Amino acid sequence: MSWTATILTLFPDMFPGPLGQSLAGKALDAGSWHCDARDLRPFGLGRHNTVDDTPCGGGAGMVMRPDVVDAALAAVSRDDGAPCVYLTPRGRPLTQADIRRYATGPGVTLLCGRYEGVDERVLEARAIEQVSIGDYVLSGGETAALVLLDACVRLLPGVMGSAESGVEESFSDGLLEYPHYTRPAEWDGRAVPDVLLSGNHAAISRWRREQSERVTRERRPDLWAAHLSNTTRSSVQEGHPI
Ligand code: ADE
Repeated sequence: MSWTATILTLFPDMFPGPLGQSLAGKALDAGSWHCDARDLRPFGLGRHNTVDDTPCGGGAGMVMRPDVVDAALAAVSRDDGAPCVYLTPRGRPLTQADIRRYATGPGVTLLCGRYEGVDERVLEARAIEQVSIGDYVLSGGETAALVLLDACVRLLPGVMGSAESGVEESFSDGLLEYPHYTRPAEWDGRAVPDVLLSGNHAAISRWRREQSERVTRERRPDLWAAHLSNTTRSSVQEGHPI
């Protein structure tokens, strides 16, 4: 069985959406992964298949009912150990390490919330991972699920054309990637850095590393601090002077 995404959503037609195109779309057509989007609505209660109710304690919006979500989860439950992930701005930040973990397993079950979110009890009771794709609020978990899936699918075996393109990229060693250039050698009065045209591969590697470090330091002090503490720790472990 190929890597499978089971998605629980009130909007199943949003899948595969953009992932039906380009790299992920070709991989989907080739059977490298499977996209199984299931509608939560039929699990709703009563004549209107109601999935939500007012928040206990008052306040704006509606909350998705735990019994409804649980019935849907039970109906799609998998016996392959795939993790179940709920997309929410209250989750821990999604990282490339999470993506690698999901991509190397059998797949994922993704729970997409709408309204104010899902009743906390079903998330606790079913040990559902809660993950956020960033510090902003989307109108629902579906677009976040598409982001997570895009990041996973490109790592699946045989999906990405060249093997290196998955290795030397942003976050792979805790740094952002160096800047890229192509022809023409001069454009709009701006030249490609000389070193990249020098043919000196050692100098190019050195320049790229310096650029990665500079960009990370300037744009992502959080990643830079983590990188420094990792390199310090591994130097100490290997007995090298810092
Ligand atoms: N649902 C709404 N906003 C979200 C976010 N930032 N990340 C994940 N899921 C979400």
